[in-house]
Amino acid sequence: MKIIRSLTAMTAWSEQLKREGVRIGFAPTMGALHDGHRALIRAARLQCDALVVSIFVNPTQFGPNEDLAKYPRPLSQDRAICKKEGVDVCFEPTVKAMYPSGFQALVALPAIARRWEGEVRPHHFSGVATVVTKLFGIVRPQIALFGQKDFQQSALVRQLVKDLNLGVEIVVHPTVREADGLARSSRNIYLSPDDRIRAATLYKSLQTGAEAIRRGVTDGVSIQKTMLQAIRGEPAMTIDYLSVCDPSTLEPLFSVRSRVVLLGAVRLGSVRLIDNLLVTTPRRVT
Ligand code: PAF
Repeated sequence: MKIIRSLTAMTAWSEQLKREGVRIGFAPTMGALHDGHRALIRAARLQCDALVVSIFVNPTQFGPNEDLAKYPRPLSQDRAICKKEGVDVCFEPTVKAMYPSGFQALVALPAIARRWEGEVRPHHFSGVATVVTKLFGIVRPQIALFGQKDFQQSALVRQLVKDLNLGVEIVVHPTVREADGLARSSRNIYLSPDDRIRAATLYKSLQTGAEAIRRGVTDGVSIQKTMLQAIRGEPAMTIDYLSVCDPSTLEPLFSVRSRVVLLGAVRLGSVRLIDNLLVTTPRRVT
């Protein structure tokens, strides 16, 4: 496995392989790789000839009071995981190389980024959109994989690729969960033992929403209330949002149609958890 830190060396490596007919796959990450990343890297391996994983804790997607300084950076462990999973290149640019003095451009956000995470974390998506666009420009992959856990992020990236003709196929990999349903996340390590037990309530709440839909409930507000009730049984948890949305626009649905995404974000102490479930509504026999 190669470790590349220089932006120009990264582009040169990709361009050379592409000239030889190699299909380049890309998994952008901020490191602190867990089983969710591992599963995504394995899926990526099957869909390309050469795989690049970037490890870059992108400062511009953290708000002023967020966890940038303490974000886990277990680099040698991450490299070992990449090597074991057959990654060809670990791309590890520095912050200075990505954002040299004089850096100014920012990608203007589409409407899909406005609500939910966009509202709670006002700087987040402009940082994500800009760094992903930059990484695509440097790595120049044909295919890139993102985790479904960050549903709105994946939707945003799809929109960017479409609107800006970035020429990358986007694949969204299903969320990998712990045995009790908690979505795997690099931030789960911040949870105290008690909060770790409580944390699965978010997934359980989304499941109650999904069950209501499967039972035939179509009213978005009733589905949302069902999910809220499940969280209210856990007083240590505060809710940022729990919503019933159209999966392509992320606008709230008052009456559910064929496919729905249930989005949730909560806080447990200083830890923020997000999760989602895609639900297909039952067909009605007439
Ligand atoms: O999902 C992440 O880890 C990050 O938001 C990403 C896509 C690597 C951009 O920094």
